[in-house]
Amino acid sequence: YSSMKISSRPELTEFEGISMVHYFTDNWKNVQNFKARPDDILIATYPKAGTTWVSYILDLLYFGNTAPERQTSLPIYMRVPFLESAFPVIPAGVELADNLPTTPRLIKTHLPVQLVPKSFWEQNCRVVYVARNAKDNAVSYFHFDQMNMVEPEPGDWSTFLHNYMDGKNVFGPWYDHVCGFWEKKKMYSNIHYMFFEDMVEDTGREIERLCSFLGLSTSAEEKERITQSTHFDTMKQNNMTNYSGLPVMDFKISPFMRKGKVGDWKNHFTVAQNEKFDEHYKQRMKNTTLQFRTEV
Ligand code: A3P
Repeated sequence: YSSMKISSRPELTEFEGISMVHYFTDNWKNVQNFKARPDDILIATYPKAGTTWVSYILDLLYFGNTAPERQTSLPIYMRVPFLESAFPVIPAGVELADNLPTTPRLIKTHLPVQLVPKSFWEQNCRVVYVARNAKDNAVSYFHFDQMNMVEPEPGDWSTFLHNYMDGKNVFGPWYDHVCGFWEKKKMYSNIHYMFFEDMVEDTGREIERLCSFLGLSTSAEEKERITQSTHFDTMKQNNMTNYSGLPVMDFKISPFMRKGKVGDWKNHFTVAQNEKFDEHYKQRMKNTTLQFRTEV
């Protein structure tokens, strides 16, 4: 697939009430009709919240010992299919998921809660949701849009931030996404809601919590090994987890494994942008009990 290059940026379009690009809507019928199995695990996130990190942790928890050759031969995006994706460079997410040989299947989505295929809820699948504070999430998304040819041009930082506050970026508003899954938890108990900041603070503790949600009795040694293997520097070096094989990204502009920090927003937000953002944030988040940390 790697000989195929994307020549132009997609446009941002309106789809089912959110901003989208065609790469995530081209296969919509198959996405909507996706047949989940009861033991599927859905990894749901707003883009840039730590999806790859948690995906790799889950992959190692389930298959680190039973299928070690998968870890060294298949990139993470092939092991954990991106459900709604229909990129020209790899098979569509639904197709990859349908052909996964493993049980459970680990499946990634960025869809907001209202667009998640209903089969996942009907089958009472386990859902692991990862959320990241709005400011660091914005900064990470900005760099990602710059280097990823399947994303619309982000413009400069101030343009991007303005659009982000407006929800005019792929997968819609951050605010609705994180709150949507937070609310869903009240009606649907099979969601483990976790935070990027907690993972940075204490990865081992978060792996522990994941294990108890998933009912896994992984040994302490194994958990320690997974903590080491999923460290930022290790994942950045690992060609199976750093996205280096995907030709739609230009690492000369920005690497996929960029910084992996909490608080990098301080290097991007001006004082004025920060004040405006905080004001707007208060409005957008006034009806939720959901709380984030912007530093650890
Ligand atoms: P930064 O751009 O802030 O560095 P996603 O996988 O959802 O696209 O999220 C990508 C973000 O998670 C990037 O953030 C990336 O560096 C960070 N990340 C990925 N693996 C990580 C790890 N093991 N530890 C810390 N951060 C990680």
